[in-house]
Amino acid sequence: EDFDLVIRNGTVATASDIMQCDVGIAGGKVVAMGRNLASGKREIDAAGKLVLPGGVDSHCHLDQPMEEGLEMADDFRSGTISAACGGTTTVIPFAAQAKGQSLRAAVEDYHRRAEGKAVIDYAFHMIVSDPTEKVLKEELPQLISEGYTSFKIYMTYDDLKLNDRQIIDVLAIARREGAMVMIHAENADCIAWLTEQLEDAGLTAPKYHATSRPMLVEREATHRAIALSELVDVPILIVHVSGKEAIEQIRWAHGHGLRIYAETCPQYFMLTADDLDQEGYHGAKCICSPPPRDKENQQYIWDGLANGLFTVFSSDHAPFRYADPKGKMPGGKEVPFRYIPNGTPGLETRLPLLFSEGVGKGRIDLNRFVALTATDPAKMYGLYPQKGTIAIGGDADIAIWDPHKEVVIANDNLHHNVDYTPYEGVAVTGWPVVTLSRGEVVYDGKEPQGAAGRGEFLKCGLPDPARPRKR
Ligand code: URP
Ligand code: ZN
Ligand code: ZN
Ligand code: ZN
Repeated sequence: EDFDLVIRNGTVATASDIMQCDVGIAGGKVVAMGRNLASGKREIDAAGKLVLPGGVDSHCHLDQPMEEGLEMADDFRSGTISAACGGTTTVIPFAAQAKGQSLRAAVEDYHRRAEGKAVIDYAFHMIVSDPTEKVLKEELPQLISEGYTSFKIYMTYDDLKLNDRQIIDVLAIARREGAMVMIHAENADCIAWLTEQLEDAGLTAPKYHATSRPMLVEREATHRAIALSELVDVPILIVHVSGKEAIEQIRWAHGHGLRIYAETCPQYFMLTADDLDQEGYHGAKCICSPPPRDKENQQYIWDGLANGLFTVFSSDHAPFRYADPKGKMPGGKEVPFRYIPNGTPGLETRLPLLFSEGVGKGRIDLNRFVALTATDPAKMYGLYPQKGTIAIGGDADIAIWDPHKEVVIANDNLHHNVDYTPYEGVAVTGWPVVTLSRGEVVYDGKEPQGAAGRGEFLKCGLPDPARPRKR
């Protein structure tokens, strides 16, 4: 046989094309695409199915070291299994630098956490929280040259946030070295002041998390991030954009020719601030930052997904359990919102939600779906064309979708280790029936397959979209 595997009779879609063809796979790579390919050692009949690039989830949190007592529920094993069962074949979680820690030590620690666990391939972003002389002059340039070519910085959270001068300093390094900088844009002082006001008034229920982080604080920080990017002349990517006011800032930047990329996530079209106001304390499950907004803002998110304002659609999977001692409901007690860990789980549901709500309901087309979920994240972070598309010479990372499969999302059927999903009971149409990682089945439509540890670490190239305008 010519091939290890042939996927026959499917409809192949990439970010640009849709074609009826077979896909021939050998040595973990796509080696042929065409009609009536020769036989393979294995064959999959994909008649009536969509053959799509496996998803690249370029913003998810797995086994990140947290403050004393707080643990992420998903490590590289459960996280990548869950991702694979939802059609994702590459994840890029975060090696986070703690204040006072060397960046190199953070990356090495994160490798130890990943070692022997992943079932799909993975790369690392870094989180830079302490840009010392040594970090700026030595560690960051070296790590970038070794394949860690993107990092996230925060404008909020006391243990992570950088001031404007620090942001300028790291942006200047990113420009010189060719790295992509992801920015969490919320104004920390506004949030701190509002939180105090709310607490003084006794307003501490989960729903006040949204009150403490109105869109103004995201708009202001987004504007400032764009200005700092323009000052230094380096592209940036604004992560988890929640709605209209931030979008307007990004649109303004595009109008001025600035290279400002933007990401959004399922929670910003699936949830609203009202979901933080569920009976009892269950609203804690939907606490994330920025918070979900309202119906009108959900429409802005859809418009941005359809019209190219957004480049990346990721999960921002943040696996905090409801019932853990320091989880969403720490020690089984209702605590003021400021003590509730931020973020929602979503590795496995990311693609089905966008497929069903987006492609299924005619809000985006299939090519756009592939671009947002696979091709463009791979390009943004230096993994394309090995990852993110179906093309000869690329890795055979493929999700075969049944576009008609009806699934009611239930946490019992998901494979993450979080004890809830914000999407319990949501009906979707379309789900992967086979997920392949380098030609090997990692999900067979029923159960995860493939040994923990088969997933490989990916060194990222310098991302082409990170190049400065050279003004
Ligand atoms: O609320 C969120 N998004 N938590 C996860 C961490 C982050 O800022 O992305
Ligand atoms: Zn963030
Ligand atoms: Zn995040
Ligand atoms: Zn299962």
